[in-house]
Amino acid sequence: MIVLGIESSCDETSVALVHDGLIRGNLVSSQIRLHAEYGGVVPELATRAHLQNLLPLARLALTEAGLLPGDIDGIAATRGPGLPSALMVGWRFAQSVAFVWQKPCLAIHHHEAHLYSPWIDGDPPRALWEEFEPNVSLIVSGGHTMLVELPEEGRHRVLGGTVDDAAGECFDKAAKLIGLPYPGGPMLDRLAEEGNPEAHHFPRPMLHEAHHDFSFSGLKTAVRYCLRDHPELLEDARGLRDFCASVRAAIVEVLVRKTVRAALQTGRPCVTASGGVTCNRALRRELARACEQAGLRLRLARPEFATDNAAMVAVLAERRLQPSRETPFPEQESDPGWSLEQTSA
Ligand code: KG4
Ligand code: ZN
Repeated sequence: MIVLGIESSCDETSVALVHDGLIRGNLVSSQIRLHAEYGGVVPELATRAHLQNLLPLARLALTEAGLLPGDIDGIAATRGPGLPSALMVGWRFAQSVAFVWQKPCLAIHHHEAHLYSPWIDGDPPRALWEEFEPNVSLIVSGGHTMLVELPEEGRHRVLGGTVDDAAGECFDKAAKLIGLPYPGGPMLDRLAEEGNPEAHHFPRPMLHEAHHDFSFSGLKTAVRYCLRDHPELLEDARGLRDFCASVRAAIVEVLVRKTVRAALQTGRPCVTASGGVTCNRALRRELARACEQAGLRLRLARPEFATDNAAMVAVLAERRLQPSRETPFPEQESDPGWSLEQTSA
């Protein structure tokens, strides 16, 4: 079966093709440069860029894979959650293509797609459904921070999430305070590699509380006060690196310890992680170390499938689309507030 996947929930336009689990193309048009001068995603600009990019990307994906519209067995798109107008563009595009090609169209939940993205691996990359095992999954990006338990494929339960800022947002805000361009997370991560993580002690919010929620706004404030009290840090390369390493250590420690604790408490043998922040070097290292110590297996989404992408949408849709089962043309609208709980079996 061949599925065309579409993702447009935020600031990445992506189109992918999946053929019996094999990724046959995963094109991503990032809008980072478009939004950089505003210091964050501007919904109106994101929406216009999705409108401009979707058709050329879909055409390119088909051409590169040597496929024709008639070869496609199904279409899938992110229906929610995300930016309302951005979602609408991708979802309507998918519905229109499905209508014209007379093919089934599947609505995919953005977070559910993230939950399975760590299971896309290999060379060439493919969906490793046969290796799936019960797990606790951490989704960390600029928009979301959540812990989800997956007792079996298709079933999931949200254990906790952020009560204020997402972890990626905290990275980006700390980076902005020291003058790094948006989104500053990746550059803060690079600077942190050469810094001393113990130079400053930042709070580890909610680390010792029994629930699985996160909060990053207090940490953000502590970071701001640190710079207010030590403006000289900004003048000195060493001081800047130590500052970055200390901020990163605080965020990573909270994410790692709460994730591992959730896996141990729920008795799940495996931890997975996805979302843009999963690209963070310290998070990857520390999760690996903590999981090994706790006797848990770890699956980190590969960077290209960790950030927003359509491959994860197409992979999940292909798993759901049975060739023999007629999928009615979906009349539903995109849903910016679609809850993950509603999609669990
Ligand atoms: O998943 P993603 O591409 O988009 C959404 O937010 O949905 O995640 C982007 C976020 C940004 O906040 C970015 O700064 C952060 O992921 N990020 C990182 C790193 N790479 C990306 N944060 C820290 N370290 C990184 N290496
Ligand atoms: Zn995402």
